Amino acid sequence: MTRFPSHATRATRIVLAAAALACVGGFAQAQQAKLKVGLMLPYSGTYTALGVAIENGFRLNVEEQGGKLGGREIEYVKVDDESDPAKATDNVNKLIKRDNVDVIIGTVHSGVAMAMAKAAKESGTVLIVPNAGADAVTGPMCAPNIFRSSFSNWQPAYAMGEVAAKQEKKKKAITITWKYAAGDESVNGFKEGFEKSGGQVVKQLSVPFPNVEFQALLTEIAAAKPDAVYAFFAGGGAVKFVKDYAAAGLDKTIPLYGPGFLTDGTLDAQGASAQGMLTTLHYADGLNTPRDNAFRIAYAKSFKLQPDVYAVQGYDAAQMLGIGLAAVKGDIGKKAEFAAAIEKAKIDSPRGPFSVGKSHNPIQDIYLRKVDGKENKLVSIATKSLADPARGCRM
Ligand code: PHB
Repeated sequence: MTRFPSHATRATRIVLAAAALACVGGFAQAQQAKLKVGLMLPYSGTYTALGVAIENGFRLNVEEQGGKLGGREIEYVKVDDESDPAKATDNVNKLIKRDNVDVIIGTVHSGVAMAMAKAAKESGTVLIVPNAGADAVTGPMCAPNIFRSSFSNWQPAYAMGEVAAKQEKKKKAITITWKYAAGDESVNGFKEGFEKSGGQVVKQLSVPFPNVEFQALLTEIAAAKPDAVYAFFAGGGAVKFVKDYAAAGLDKTIPLYGPGFLTDGTLDAQGASAQGMLTTLHYADGLNTPRDNAFRIAYAKSFKLQPDVYAVQGYDAAQMLGIGLAAVKGDIGKKAEFAAAIEKAKIDSPRGPFSVGKSHNPIQDIYLRKVDGKENKLVSIATKSLADPARGCRM
């Protein structure tokens, strides 16, 4: 029963009672409204398989929670971003302004992700990045409403630089990548780790994204005869690069290293050309933990596919959203409490538990993996609890 001050007149009591009822009704309605999740991912082009795996992982986690996060049913709105930075601002604004989404999940491509981060920062919409490693997203562009469930481009690259110099004892390396933020930052991270550990990057080669005409550059590598090559490519481009590298006979003479994207989700298509390759990443096959085994069985059952790092990142984006929403009972407008819950959480990821740093990027183990058949088999932990330096992040 609602109690009113004794001096209230009968008329004010009626008005107050009506207001109280309206309030209860409004609250119930808000509780029932679906949470609109905007999935902005590549569903065409060289990164298509990555976008699909992220969506699959995200949906799997939501299904495991009975289709609800923080008590709210989920409604999806999808946009194909085509991994095209030129269309990114229009695409993200469709979700924010036309569809009025509550949260955005995306994307794969770093150039597209930076446009998304800018729009999210300006509008205050919650953004969870389930792949793109653009250092700036959790660096200078960091914001209380922007989170990442994946990695920064620096993280696996830096770890590989250390492995190549210290463990593999390589002295001179050539790098090769697509020329855009992710490739540039990956090469920089490798160079930093490699040169700090005594190696030297002697040449940096690139092709425009998403070109796959590698022949001239492979000829240049063969002539230069470095001790090692470090490459950043992913998806369809990684398949082509690794096959071309082997077809040129280079795999027999110059070991090819990379962040794990070079061989993740691609081994069926790469076949013999990838065998024995060493890469570094925050996920691996054969972790053999109860958490990862359960995830892999559930994923394979739902999608008739083996999960990869992208599936894990999508799954964990849903976990992070779920943690934030549970803390605010579904009211994503409570931004500070939402962020605080994710900041203090230990996320129970298939990759192993991780937390996010102040810049909202995962602090995580980076594994060294070796290609064996169709698996990126765990070799060891290359770097324990690696945190991105988050250069330029002020929050
Ligand atoms: C990126 O653009 O940040 C990116 C794309 C694909 C990957 C990794 C990073 O596999």
